[in-house]
Amino acid sequence: MNVVILAAGMGKRMQSALPKVLHPLAGKSLLGHVIDTARTLSPRKLCVIYGHGGAAVPEMVAQLNTGAHANIDTALQEPQLGTGHAVMQAVPQLDDDAPTLVLYGDVPLTTANSLQRLVEAAGTDKLAILTVEQANPFGLGRIIREGKQIVRIVEEKDASEAERTIREINSGIMVAPTRHLKKWLAALSNNNAQGEYYLTDIVAQAVADGVPVVSAQPSAEWEVAGVNSKVQLAELERRHQLNIANALLEKGVTVMDPARLDVRGELVCGRDVVIDVGCVFEGKVELADGVRVGAHCVLVDARIGAGASIKPFCHIEQAVVGAQSQIGPYARLRPGTELGQDVHIGNFVEIKNSQVAAHSKANHLAYVGDATVGSRVNIGAGTITCNYDGVNKFRTVIEDDAFIGSDSQLVAPVTVGKGATLGAGTTLSKDAPAGKLTISRPRQVTIENWTRPVKIKK
Ligand code: UD1
Ligand code: CA
Repeated sequence: MNVVILAAGMGKRMQSALPKVLHPLAGKSLLGHVIDTARTLSPRKLCVIYGHGGAAVPEMVAQLNTGAHANIDTALQEPQLGTGHAVMQAVPQLDDDAPTLVLYGDVPLTTANSLQRLVEAAGTDKLAILTVEQANPFGLGRIIREGKQIVRIVEEKDASEAERTIREINSGIMVAPTRHLKKWLAALSNNNAQGEYYLTDIVAQAVADGVPVVSAQPSAEWEVAGVNSKVQLAELERRHQLNIANALLEKGVTVMDPARLDVRGELVCGRDVVIDVGCVFEGKVELADGVRVGAHCVLVDARIGAGASIKPFCHIEQAVVGAQSQIGPYARLRPGTELGQDVHIGNFVEIKNSQVAAHSKANHLAYVGDATVGSRVNIGAGTITCNYDGVNKFRTVIEDDAFIGSDSQLVAPVTVGKGATLGAGTTLSKDAPAGKLTISRPRQVTIENWTRPVKIKK
């Protein structure tokens, strides 16, 4: 099969410098969604027609052209003279021996299933159109049938009063036998209300040539909904998120409110996972069995081990959390954080590029960066690893069973030995030996006979 994706329109109503098809839905461009769905059909040729927005669209396509997936071509349509004219730009690239599927770059949520049904309906020798009955068909092309037979498509602006009452509309998505398609495109005229070369006019030509015209229907109207404005983009975003939430619910995930979940990537959940409201998941996130994610957490490219609890308001990015661990509320795990089993990270604790082994705790107000922390370590409130001298970064090593007193600064590179204790307020600039108490605080003194100053009388 050949696939042509139309993406040359300017999208004026988006009120944006970004070409319409590059606006993100669930963290991926509209065009990216269409390309990904098209690829599930394993097309021989895949061609994106671009126009408005300069090089941005082909640049984005080039990024998707990697490895085994290096099969997308682009063709410039300049000026944009209609949907038929757009498909003409792909003609030199289309393989005559396979049918051609036309998709729109601004219709992101069509399912592979629906496309598959359309492709099957077309076979090798029919023209197949994805149509839908719409309560409000205003502005769309209407399907004109004689009896059951589709005979042509008429655009809103060219339609008669009677034709405008028809509610079966053209989604724009169609499959055509390629040899015929090329011939029909060459014969298009722009003699219509908009002065455009309408792709839809190939339907009447097919009928004239005795090529059967058939239709298929998507399972839901949103599958063929296009994005022309930010309002429509927001509507489709919610629709898509609801679909994701429902799929998670079907798999047994407890989503506290399916209307308040945002997945912008891939979220993989084990059994008995609970997700509270307002969470955002980006990139690839894995939640193992029994994980609970509290309200308003953001997780980006993260792996959370079985039974771990992420309390509300945490930000976790490129991090691994061990099984049974407890994180937050208000914790921040930055890239390179790897926590072992049953690690406790409490409120206002930031961890970066560090490994923290099993059963260790940093329960309040700490910064742990570029550190290797052993097992059963206790990091007191206010502890900071001073990993950066303004130019270079150094590592801090805290061995098993160490106890770091509150408000300590560990000036890296430095090591706290196994079982060592640091007294509260220590500024550690040399290694602390294993098993001993190290403290850098000046001795406490009390001044006898000291009196508070008194106000001087004027
Ligand atoms: C088109 C159909 C109409 C259908 C509707 C569904 C035609 C003549 N009409 O309407 O029957 O109900 O889609 O939304 O085909 N594009 C280009 N180059 C162009 C013009 C359009 O690439 O010169 C692209 C747009 O970027 C968009 C798609 O084609 O992705 C549809 O264009 P749009 O102007 O939205 O559709 P209409 O022509 O109004
Ligand atoms: Ca449109």
